[in-house]
Amino acid sequence: MTISIDTTAPPATSGQGGAGRDPLRVLAILARRKGDIFVYTTGQPQSFLVNRPEYVRHVLVDGADRYSKDTPINAGFATTIANALLTSEGATWRRQRSLMQPAFSKRNIPAVATIVGEQVGRLAARWDQAAAIGAPIDLHADTTQLMFRITSLALFHVDSEPWDAQMTDILGKALPVLTDVSQRPFRVAQIAIWDISQRIVEARKAQQNGHVDDVLGRLLQSGDINATHRALRDHVVTMALSGYETTASVITWGLYMLAQHPDVAEQLRSQIADVTGERTLALEDLRALPYLNAVVKETMRLYPPAWIIGRRALEDDRIGETDIPAGSVVAVSPYTLHRHPRYWPDPDRFDPRRFMDERAERDRPAFTYIPFGAGPRTCIGTNFAQVEAPLVLGQLLQRYRMRLVNDGEVQPQGIFVIVPQQPIHIALSAA
Ligand code: HEM
Repeated sequence: MTISIDTTAPPATSGQGGAGRDPLRVLAILARRKGDIFVYTTGQPQSFLVNRPEYVRHVLVDGADRYSKDTPINAGFATTIANALLTSEGATWRRQRSLMQPAFSKRNIPAVATIVGEQVGRLAARWDQAAAIGAPIDLHADTTQLMFRITSLALFHVDSEPWDAQMTDILGKALPVLTDVSQRPFRVAQIAIWDISQRIVEARKAQQNGHVDDVLGRLLQSGDINATHRALRDHVVTMALSGYETTASVITWGLYMLAQHPDVAEQLRSQIADVTGERTLALEDLRALPYLNAVVKETMRLYPPAWIIGRRALEDDRIGETDIPAGSVVAVSPYTLHRHPRYWPDPDRFDPRRFMDERAERDRPAFTYIPFGAGPRTCIGTNFAQVEAPLVLGQLLQRYRMRLVNDGEVQPQGIFVIVPQQPIHIALSAA
């Protein structure tokens, strides 16, 4: 989601890999200067950012029929990467959503939790070696590989190990130029993503163990959606990218925050130990660990993976005192909304206790916290993400103490999701 920002904005720090400006920082500055609704890009179509819960509700929920997903960025994604649930509209979207929704139902959660436990164990075998020789790990490289594998197993029941490094490495280089077809990293990534998704489908078709009621199982059984080779590929690519990049972002920033706040990490580790004793954190334990949930929520407040949600006005509208001409882009940024000082005291401070305070939670207006979006297009993977993120974080915390090796703070960068601008190096030791 690279966006070209209002050039009257202050200069931004250079983004990695050609992103040029730094949209997160610029949006945050504009939101503080310009109020709750403002034009944030130059050029056409005119693009507004709304940064107030009532307006969020107006666009994403009440106005869902009057605002489409057909923004330039989504259209670019649909033509050059994949056109499926993330970008489809109308009757096609409704059909796709109802086909895939059951795969994300609560009854599939225990299987996801088992996959998480196994894959964290696999990662730990490697991290144990790194800890033993005192070699720091590259946090985001490892979390993206971990989450790609978990996502492939949870949604497609295919072990993606042969392609993990290729997928995450190539995509990491291509994301800054995502949808810019003229750039070589983009072309390389496009071909690799399509190829890997094809291999995932072939690996699944070759399996002997019959039907599994996951995303790919449902797609393969649906004569309609499976009609073309391209449609199936687009679904696999959409689900893989939206499933793993987002959750990896939460794990990366969550562990980064915990490494920066050892007091929170210690408190959390001891609470987990009180509940689990010597055994590995399990799905059934999550209910007894509200602080773990609060750490995940606070991480997604400060670093919401989906940092901008765009819509296009299908007809003229008025939001607050501002006229919105038909055809304009109207965007919501969970990043600026979650740091709005009117709703969040000391907004830039990492403080999970704000999600433990029942009264503050009750008093906060609806639609001030929307990491998974709002309205009919809300995230289909919410149930999975809400189990994957605390289980991965908690299980890694049970095993390791983590010390940041980087000099200075790591800045976030808003691309497809929020990623670190530079590698985060962590030194591990046994907990
Ligand atoms: C912490 C993790 C996640 C976050 C923060 C997140 C965030 C979001 C947000 C904000 C949207 C709404 C976009 C819009 O309104 O335009 C969305 C939609 C979507 N997400 Fe997620 N997501 C996460 C995990 C997942 C996972 C695990 C999957 C799949 C396994 C997934 C698949 C999707 C899909 C397919 C859509 C489009 C749904 C539709 O339009 O019907 N997401 N996500």
